[in-house]
This record gives sequence, C-alpha cells and structure tokens, in this order.
Amino acid sequence: MNKKLFKSVVLGAAAVMSVAVLAGCGSSPAEQTASNKLVMGTNAQFPPFEFTTTNNPLVETFDGIDVAIAKKIAEDNGKELTIVDQEFEGLVAAVSTGKVDMAVAGMTVTPDRQQSVDFSDTYYTATQVMVVAPDNTSIQKASDLVDKKVGVVLGYTGDNIVTDDLQVPEANIQRANRALDIIQDVKNGKLDAVVVDSYTGKALAEKNGLKAIEDPEAFEAEEYAIAVKKGNTELLEQINKVLKEMKESGEIEQLAEKYNTMDVE
Ligand code: ARG
Repeated sequence: MNKKLFKSVVLGAAAVMSVAVLAGCGSSPAEQTASNKLVMGTNAQFPPFEFTTTNNPLVETFDGIDVAIAKKIAEDNGKELTIVDQEFEGLVAAVSTGKVDMAVAGMTVTPDRQQSVDFSDTYYTATQVMVVAPDNTSIQKASDLVDKKVGVVLGYTGDNIVTDDLQVPEANIQRANRALDIIQDVKNGKLDAVVVDSYTGKALAEKNGLKAIEDPEAFEAEEYAIAVKKGNTELLEQINKVLKEMKESGEIEQLAEKYNTMDVE
C-alpha cells in the first residue's frame, strides 16, 4: 500500500469511528428509552392471566399472573415493563417482527407457533373447557358440540380444536376477538357453548352465572410459555432463569391462587 492510500484509509477509518462515537453519544431519546424498556405483547382479555382493571393494577391498567411474571423479568433485567395490548391473533407476528420483545399471553406452545418464535420453559398447564348455560344438559362431552352453535376466539388453540379436531361445521362456529363477547352470546342463548382455556373459562363462567364443563379425554393438556423472537437466546435464558426462581420459590403457585380467587373485571 502506498503512503498516500494508507493515509486516506486511516483518515477514512477515523472519520467512521468519530461518526460512530458521535452516534453513540447523541442517540435520540427514543432509542435510549427503547432500551430501558422491556416490551410485552399480550391480549388482555384473558383473566386471570391478563386483564385490565381500575382496581389497583400492577402495571399501567393491567394486572394478572402474566403481568406479575413479566414485571419480575423486567426488574431482573433492570428494565421497565411496558405492555402492548393487541389482538391475540397477531401476537406471534408481533414477536417475530420485533414489534414486541416477548409475548406473555397464556400462550400455548404449539408446533405451528414454534416455527415462527422460540418458547421459554413452560410455566402453567391448562386445558379447554366448554362454557354453557347453567341449565344446559345436552353438552356433556366435546363430541356433543358437533351439532351445536359454538363460539371460539380467533386464533386461540380452542379455535383449532373446534374447527379441526371436533370438526364442528363452519356455519355453526362463531369467531370473536374477545372471549367476553361470545360469553354474552351463551348468556343470551345465541350460542350453545364457548370453548376456551380452563382458567379463563371458569373465571368467566363464574362471573356470568354459567357453567364450565371439562372433558379431559378430548381436551389435552396445554402448556403455557413465553414467546421471544427466534434466536434471542439472551432474553430467553434470562426469562427461563426468572421462571425457574419463581417456580422454586412457590411464587408462580401463589400468583395462581391470588388471581384465581380475585374478582376480575
Ligand atoms: N392458550 C390459548 C392459546 O394459546 C389462548 C391464549 C389466549 N391468551 C390471551 N392473552 N388472550 O391459543
């Protein structure tokens, strides 16, 4: 390399470095705050895991088992938890595109979702239940649903089970974005049943004077876990560390007890 060229390479490198240094010092406030925050994506229509309340919420207007877990993860990370409340159906995409850092949403681990996101260790086991009117006697097991009007929430595992496994005809399925709406339709007789996760189903049934029916033979156990962007092992390991601590100390169990007996809005 001749001297002149060498000199310009060095100068060029110095220029690049000083730009980098300047960029480092002068990063915009938005970028700085972004890194102080851990962004949780969820769908807060899922008591006792996540719901909104005016009664002393844990984070912003949100409360629930998942919110408490996510808060711990953020604290352990030295970050502040922010919550993006959105439709459940878009959560996997929000994680895989980096719109949110993690989805904490009572999300069942499924092979399908595992193609798009990485899951943490599991922290809760649930199953599906059928929420029906208190005087309903025609629905005792899952197979009874086949000629009934059934409500599910868009993109929930309950939707897949009703559609693919139980093969309820499309014309008899009503899909909603919120469990609350279709629960109202069971109340007013427009629907015979809503198929939804057990803890949520039981909470909503109790609140609305309905009953939740189980069928362990038809509805398998579902494991809840936290989803992160594929390859984000740093966050994943930290999440697993916190989950492990919370399981070992009995905290997860305590949260379940606390929120299961709480009157949610
Ligand atoms: N466990 C079900 C699923 O993964 C339902 C989860 C709904 N969660 C929520 N936050 N709305 O599909």
